[in-house]
Amino acid sequence: QMPPLAACYNLMDFEAVARRVMKKTAWAYYSSGADDEITMRENHAAFHKIWFRPRVLVDVEHIDMSTTMLGDKCSIPFYVTATALGKLGHPEGEVVLTKAAKQHDVIQMIPTLASCSFDEIVDAKQGDQVQWLQLYVNKDRAITEKIVAHAEKRGCKGLFITVDAPQLGRREKDMRSKFSDVGSDVQSGESNVDRSQGAARAISSFIDPALSWKDIPWFRSITRMPIVLKGVQCVEDVLRAVEAGCDGVVLSNHGGRQLETARSGIEVLVEVMPALRERGWEKRIEVYVDGGVRRSTDIIKALCLGAKGVGIGRPFLYAMSAYGLDGVDRAMQLLKDEMEMNMRLIGATTIEELNPSLLDTRGLMGG
Ligand code: FNR
Repeated sequence: QMPPLAACYNLMDFEAVARRVMKKTAWAYYSSGADDEITMRENHAAFHKIWFRPRVLVDVEHIDMSTTMLGDKCSIPFYVTATALGKLGHPEGEVVLTKAAKQHDVIQMIPTLASCSFDEIVDAKQGDQVQWLQLYVNKDRAITEKIVAHAEKRGCKGLFITVDAPQLGRREKDMRSKFSDVGSDVQSGESNVDRSQGAARAISSFIDPALSWKDIPWFRSITRMPIVLKGVQCVEDVLRAVEAGCDGVVLSNHGGRQLETARSGIEVLVEVMPALRERGWEKRIEVYVDGGVRRSTDIIKALCLGAKGVGIGRPFLYAMSAYGLDGVDRAMQLLKDEMEMNMRLIGATTIEELNPSLLDTRGLMGG
């Protein structure tokens, strides 16, 4: 028996429903993290080490949560991050997320390994809706070049190159479920996939483990889209990304699905921003965070610390799997309502006003 959608009051509620109603294999693929899932749990737990230092007696009648990401406007500083295999959860797949993103004026990142074709997802967008492309780099660079050129031609506004997955991590829940109908769901171009290792490994054999910093100038030369490295995990690599001319980084551990005991993005953010500010580089690169964002307070904390925006993955998959478009719509609305309230409660009326003095981060600094 499905609880009514109105009984979902936060993003965790969708997860609880999805766990009960999803196909076991689909649940295993979406919910799994690498190894013992320590990083996956820490992603959300890390936000709890940060406390607010709100300001009172600020006129907070009018709240404006809108911002820009890579130069494009959006209504609230989160985006729908790329998650593969949308049709495992819902027969219409990623286009459900496209429609919800349009309703809420948020940006959607299209995964290389979407269940829908890339063109279907772009065709589903309306008006000046903004989409980005998440890229897994193929060993055959001619294929990658074609994908990138096509995405740019179809209006994608950002190229997010995933750099934390030269080999897919061990998601044991997923491996145990030995997913059997992945091949027909995916446009990976591989017909003879090895399904014995779960969905993730079955679809990822084309990814080039030789990808390196030397390839970044080549990407620069083949596209005018802003280039963002998704999956950067320490300040050294952020500085290197600036030097390489990248437009952004996503501090991410792939939702805890790759390197086990990698740090959470928010933890990395506190080492990254001071180093950028010290060099006067904070305007040269946009810094994003994903992983474990479940509450508007998580979003606000990341922004106070200097992130331009945050990505959210599993919660929208769960909302989509359980309730389709209405579910994703409600999940986004809940975040908006929470965010408006919490900005009031900390005494900030615009995104520009969010700053580190609104936080106590001693708990993150090893305190
Ligand atoms: C992902 N993620 C991901 N990232 C990527 O670059 N390419 C991909 O194909 C996928 N696929 C994918 C599938 C599923 C089921 C999940 C849960 C995640 C990682 C994703 O973009 C993001 O980093 C995390 O999902 C963020 O963590 P939360 O919000 O899921 O906690």
